[in-house]
Amino acid sequence: MADLSTQPLVMEGAGWADYGLVDSGHGRKLERYGKYRFIRPEPQAMWSPRQDDWQAHAEFVPGSDEDGGGRWQFGKDVPRDGWPLAWNEARFTAQCTPFRHLGFFPDMAPVWDWMRGRLEGCDDAATLNLFGYTGVGSLALSQCGPVTHVDASKKSVAQARENAGLSGMADRPIRWLVDDAGKFTAREVRRGKRYDGIILDPPKFGRGPDGEVWRLEDGLPPLVADCRRLLDADSRFLFLTVYAVRMSSLAIGGLLAEALADLPGTIEHGDLAVREDGPDGRLLPTAIFARWRNG
Ligand SMILES: C[S@@+](CC[C@H](N)C(=O)[O-])C[C@H]1O[C@@H](n2cnc3c(N)ncnc32)[C@H](O)[C@@H]1O
Repeated sequence: MADLSTQPLVMEGAGWADYGLVDSGHGRKLERYGKYRFIRPEPQAMWSPRQDDWQAHAEFVPGSDEDGGGRWQFGKDVPRDGWPLAWNEARFTAQCTPFRHLGFFPDMAPVWDWMRGRLEGCDDAATLNLFGYTGVGSLALSQCGPVTHVDASKKSVAQARENAGLSGMADRPIRWLVDDAGKFTAREVRRGKRYDGIILDPPKFGRGPDGEVWRLEDGLPPLVADCRRLLDADSRFLFLTVYAVRMSSLAIGGLLAEALADLPGTIEHGDLAVREDGPDGRLLPTAIFARWRNG
């Protein structure tokens, strides 16, 4: 029976050559993406910035609505159609998107490492990446075997394929699917499929390709229950992240504990956090997670 650990963990990501959290404070953060620097809103950075003068190529200025809106203000020249970045062997395009992101989520880097650690030594592990966005996680997983990548956005899936090409991984066994995460997972259950590992990175609110409404609080319990049906006692992991929602990691840990109760292994939960560059860099939390691991 999978045990739920009550002690929260911090999964810490440090910067790497192409990404870093330079400074944070007063509700904003300064990050580097390759040779460009950006300022974005960050409500959890309530402390004071370490540096007085933030030099950036662009800043995302939020609208008055806390949940969305706003726009980029460009100070210096930034390639509007994107520029190439790397994480380990994966290559991908970074770009200023209208949703305040830059085309990939750097705080997921320790998750990509952790999943690969669970599959160490495997070259035929079947994994499922739900809400896979521009595919950096799928490229990371494809080192260990075939990947099924699902996202509702045609544009994101096209970008993910392009990133695979940039990485020289176009021939890796990755199925790139534009589909609704819930519908697809239910179909896989009916087909009797199994996976060695599943990652879910759902937004708070979203839409499937046919306008299906995704609301995290309603959609997550049945989706996690279906994910359980795609795992068995030989599977290695399930990883769930949740962000921008008022929810404790203990709550999503409890959800996994209920759904995966009849599997062996351990369920842990906590914060994903990025460490600022520099010797005494602070840890900035970005999301909560719950994860199941077996063996
Ligand atoms: C925050 S992103 C995931 C980030 C990604 N895992 C990464 O680390 O790069 C959320 C994604 O969910 C997708 N999405 C929203 N609603 C969906 C649905 N009902 N089914 C499938 N994907 C959905 C969006 O298109 C978006 O790409």
